[in-house]
Amino acid sequence: MKNILVIGSAGQIGSELTLELRRIYGGDNVVAGVRKTKPSEKLTSTGPCEVVDALNTDALVETVKKYKIDAIINMAAILSATGENNPMLAWDVNMNGLINVLEIAREYKMKQVLVPSSIAVFGPTTPVDNTPQETILKPTTMYGVTKVAGELLGDYYVKKYGLDVRGLRYPGIISHETEPGGGTTDYAVAIYYEAVKHNKYTCFVNEDTRLPMMYMPDCLKATLDLMHADFSKLEHHCDFNVGAMSFSVKELAESVKKHMPGFEIDYKPDERQAIADSWPNSVDDSLARKEWGWKPEFDLDAMTQDMLKEIKIKHEKGLI
Ligand code: SER
Repeated sequence: MKNILVIGSAGQIGSELTLELRRIYGGDNVVAGVRKTKPSEKLTSTGPCEVVDALNTDALVETVKKYKIDAIINMAAILSATGENNPMLAWDVNMNGLINVLEIAREYKMKQVLVPSSIAVFGPTTPVDNTPQETILKPTTMYGVTKVAGELLGDYYVKKYGLDVRGLRYPGIISHETEPGGGTTDYAVAIYYEAVKHNKYTCFVNEDTRLPMMYMPDCLKATLDLMHADFSKLEHHCDFNVGAMSFSVKELAESVKKHMPGFEIDYKPDERQAIADSWPNSVDDSLARKEWGWKPEFDLDAMTQDMLKEIKIKHEKGLI
């Protein structure tokens, strides 16, 4: 890979992944594709930025030609909660955007395409503990439906056209650079911001809700490790389970309290509770460990310490 395009560069994962890729491949070789969101100074000052909408094929092709792109990372997606409020938009962005990317990748003979998936591929009939990679995939959200279809589509392009397509099922991702938007797992980010700002948080799922989660440094590591894995050694391609930690909201709140003794939490579950309840407690990522050596580094307390430290700095600077 020489010239990489990241679509969805202004998003939670895209923003940090773009910077990490620029560190590895050089700033000029990683194009930040943004749609409407105003890109941060960090993105605009470290390499090229282009307005790229996965649904606009002409603009996408123009960018591919202009920068001689040979790898695309498609981070643009409508997440679970927003997707339930607007299922057609989720279908359009997540499916039509993806097929555009795959077709362009095929036509322009890309060296690699990264198509992220999610724990949202699972549903209420999937086994909840240590959920295997190969299991029942019957999600009840439109986001989940598009992610299952996206995995199948990616695998189809591998088999049919020999295109190098890869993807992993991200758990809830926790980070402090760019806030997530429209996801069900967003409470695990919001709790840290509210703890620093108000020492109090009202959570939109109940205290026993337990989901697989991952801190951003591990998310970047998983993504890069999969991108750099030897294609010929991969038996799976677009559906890798990747685990790091799993905790209930109560355990998350206890972890925050260790650093902020007066911290208070209360619960007002809304429609996102049903989405959370349909997803696993934890995942079995043994295939990722076996096929490309996946190994996470952060646990809950290490993450809490780092999140609170970074968010306090932002708060002191008046940024939040
Ligand atoms: N974080 C996502 C969501 O909550 C799951 O992939 O929608």
